[in-house]
Amino acid sequence: MSETTTRGELEPDESTLNRANDATAHADSFWAAARSELEGLPGGGLNIACEAVDRHVRAGRGATVALRWRGKNGERRDFSYAELASLSNRFAHTLHQLGISKGDRVCTLAGRIPELYIAALGTLKAGAVFCPLFSAFGPEPVRVRLSKSRARVLVTTALLYQRKVRAQRVDLPDLAHVLLTDSGGAEPGVHSFHALLDAESDAFTLPFTAPEDWALLHFTSGTTGTPKGAIHVHEAIVAHRLSARLVFALRPGDVYWCTADPGWVTGVSYGIIAPLAHGVTLVVDEADFDAGRWYALLEQERVNVWYTAPTAIRMLMKGGTEPARGYDLSALRFAASVGEPLNPEGVRWGQEALGQPFHDTWWQTETGAILIANRHGQELRPGSMGRPLPGITTAIVRRRPDGGIDRLDAGEEGELAVRVGWPSLFRGYLDDAERYQACFADGWYLSGDLATRDVEGYYWFLGRDDDVIKSAGHLIGPFEVESALLQHPAVAEAGMIGKPDPFAGNIVKVFVALKPGYVASAALHKELLGFARTRLGPAVAPRELEFIADLPKTRSGKIMRRLLRNRELGLPLGDLAVLDTDVTPTC
Ligand code: WT7
Repeated sequence: MSETTTRGELEPDESTLNRANDATAHADSFWAAARSELEGLPGGGLNIACEAVDRHVRAGRGATVALRWRGKNGERRDFSYAELASLSNRFAHTLHQLGISKGDRVCTLAGRIPELYIAALGTLKAGAVFCPLFSAFGPEPVRVRLSKSRARVLVTTALLYQRKVRAQRVDLPDLAHVLLTDSGGAEPGVHSFHALLDAESDAFTLPFTAPEDWALLHFTSGTTGTPKGAIHVHEAIVAHRLSARLVFALRPGDVYWCTADPGWVTGVSYGIIAPLAHGVTLVVDEADFDAGRWYALLEQERVNVWYTAPTAIRMLMKGGTEPARGYDLSALRFAASVGEPLNPEGVRWGQEALGQPFHDTWWQTETGAILIANRHGQELRPGSMGRPLPGITTAIVRRRPDGGIDRLDAGEEGELAVRVGWPSLFRGYLDDAERYQACFADGWYLSGDLATRDVEGYYWFLGRDDDVIKSAGHLIGPFEVESALLQHPAVAEAGMIGKPDPFAGNIVKVFVALKPGYVASAALHKELLGFARTRLGPAVAPRELEFIADLPKTRSGKIMRRLLRNRELGLPLGDLAVLDTDVTPTC
């Protein structure tokens, strides 16, 4: 056995799924059964927003609270499924009025405000492609993503527009309309989000969207090049919905809280789509992390299912178990984590402080949905990411020089791979077929993560096989950070690494070699950090910077970030022979 497929562990009442989930069933019939639970559109169509919102209204559940929004200044607003349906209808109308048609990209650049959720769902209804941008990105990452996506519409706030977009609009010829959520339209091409919606009808007939039509565009980073736009289609909701049931055991009446920001894939797949597809109440907190606020929110909203991240868990752990004990968290039935390694201490701390252990789950922007998890109702292995979900086949593999792969046995270390054929697998990187192809071999998707599998089929994370890092759960690619520094006249070369940090997992650190004529000084150090922060924004900017005479490079000039990492950790710089090797970039 060199691969693992978990079978036969579905909810007892899921008879359709159970029929398909016998030992001989093929993944296709498994997913076809999952698909048959969806409503669909006449003529074989499928629309994520219709499954997430409208079907509940049609089924008489329109009065259920879909979105409970907690503002950072203490506001609390409920949106029922019926209200969310009508507001997203108005947004879909607005897009059509603005001339947006199928496949056009609609971006958001905003914190966790209700308008973002309305825009996401309305975009999907209009048949356009929703592309969220993280609000803590600086002007440079924002411009790159707006440009690469060829966004036609941007929904944002007056402040974010002013700070991060306005001056760059000359470089964004496709961006025809900016919709401000908190102000009127003061100049051409800038409108008031609310004025436009108020002018529209709240009845809307969805255009036909096929299951393979593009729905979501999520930017993610690799070692090389600019960020890659991972494309997801409407069919992905089959996996969003089923995985949320299998992993979290979501059920009607649940209150669910996902702390991830919708500027990233978790905040969309599990912070919008999956919970709404189950008709539960989704809690959204606009404020940033604060331990006391979070415990109070879990208590006050009587959260049943909670999905968060190791960085947040480590921050909570900093305060010990005592603070949580002051709150009534008895409603909490399941707690889960994603995005970075979750150590056994974190799992157990959940049990002690919250009364529920954290269940680790694994997936990526490219996989669209959770593929490996410590699921509800199954044995939890602290320190392991869990086992593949039903319908998912995973393996640990090694790439061969001829482009094929060899599957490895239990206990061996290699790359985590997933057999192609699940609904939320990304369908491409925007305008980059080559990089997309590089992610696959012999019918398997290669994740770029290094891991090992034990004899019982549990997967254990070891690291990445490339140079991207996770800082506070956010994936950051070296190219973006290094390019920003290279724009400074003093910088000849820059190399980014993740420096281990007890809370953020890693912080961004850059090594900088100066051009002739420039001298390292405290003033220049400060200037460069400020320069990078202004361009990149707080989420991506380096926290540390070190001057270095020369960056270690391969013969063809590629920076050896691994050696920089070793230097940082005080490890040997490594075999110098490695300097002759060019590591071929993967996806
Ligand atoms: C990368 C994907 C997290 C899903 C959405 C973000 C790392 C993910 C785990 C885990 C250790 C994890 C991997 C992966 N990662 N889950 N449970 N344990 N590492 O997706 O931003 O594309 O990040 O996050 O390295 O490749 P993403």
